[in-house]
Amino acid sequence: MRIPLAAPDICEADIQAVSGVLRTSRLSLGPKLEEFERAMAQYAGAAHAVAVNAGTSGLHLCLRGLGIGAGDEVIVPSFAFIAAANAIRYEKGIPVFVDVEPETLNLDPRRIEAAITARTRGILVVHTFGCPAELSEILEIARRRGLFVIEDACEAIGAEYDGRKVGPLGDAGVFAFYPNKQITTGEGGMLVTQDPEIAALARKLRNQGRSDTEDGYSHTELGYNYRLSEMHCALGVEQLKRIESILERREAIARAYEERLGGLGNLKLPGLRVPRRRISWFVYVVRLGAEYGRFQRDWIAKEMEARGIGCGKYFAPIHLQPVYRSASCAKAGLAVTEWNAERTLALPFFNRIQEEQIEEVCETLKELMRRAAGVRAE
Ligand SMILES: Cc1ncc(COP(=O)(O)O)c(C=O)c1O
Repeated sequence: MRIPLAAPDICEADIQAVSGVLRTSRLSLGPKLEEFERAMAQYAGAAHAVAVNAGTSGLHLCLRGLGIGAGDEVIVPSFAFIAAANAIRYEKGIPVFVDVEPETLNLDPRRIEAAITARTRGILVVHTFGCPAELSEILEIARRRGLFVIEDACEAIGAEYDGRKVGPLGDAGVFAFYPNKQITTGEGGMLVTQDPEIAALARKLRNQGRSDTEDGYSHTELGYNYRLSEMHCALGVEQLKRIESILERREAIARAYEERLGGLGNLKLPGLRVPRRRISWFVYVVRLGAEYGRFQRDWIAKEMEARGIGCGKYFAPIHLQPVYRSASCAKAGLAVTEWNAERTLALPFFNRIQEEQIEEVCETLKELMRRAAGVRAE
């Protein structure tokens, strides 16, 4: 794509840090892992941070840490990246899909209580597109009903709710570092928690359930290889040093989009300011108005791509995915999810995007929206 949807921001210091590791003999489970974990814990305000090879692995370890088992229900949005619900199913838990609220597309706290049953164990809240969900209400419901809260903060590193960074505000949370994320390690994730037992179990499980003892090691749990290499961690340490300037740059890009697209009656923009939150801009997702449907949205996306402009259709609802059709899961009235999922369009969004590129994206979108109004499915 001439103007890609996303792009990593790799600088010379990142390259030096990774090649520095390659000149040592310690490529895994070494000092960079410890440094990355320490820096992340401090940044996120967590007592513990456990690096893993992907955000999905981190979510899986949260669910293991909280003891989710067969038939346990976990409330989760369907308007989310599929990993959130998959992690529940890895442990034979049952995802219970609850609708999102129309403004931020995050789990709607007003709909949570009706979905709680005797089998509900917890809430997996996703801070979608980097905007924190309504945490005070969700944490209050969880406390009152004796449920755990896992924060899927994979898209929201650095985002804040009431002045506190999201991630470790519930029982455990996870950040992710795929190359389209605010900071990247190529692949990678970080579990954060205030709970020493969850952290200790996650450390063990990421390394084949191994406990080091005086006479060798003993595998006390059915674990996994979810380790993150020293090269990944070295990149993470460097990227994290720049996070504040990255978040500021991304907010400036969101503002630039708003200046050019604001005021169009048939286009809903993501709110630049949402009460009680600091948004960590992960993507810039606009929503087409009611006069457009899935057919027109898909036509616009295809035309944009034909002109070299990347765009995304986040998210296809999880409950409509083929792999979920016959799965054991429950859902309650997902009208907001389904309506919005047909009208979202993610626009190119990366640190080094240029002013002229933003201008081109916006002008192309406006032109295609005018033309799409007359495009109909056969
Ligand atoms: C909301 C959300 N959850 C989970 C994940 C999974 O992270 P990973 O791709 O690192 O496994 C992602 C990442 O892309 C995500 O956006």
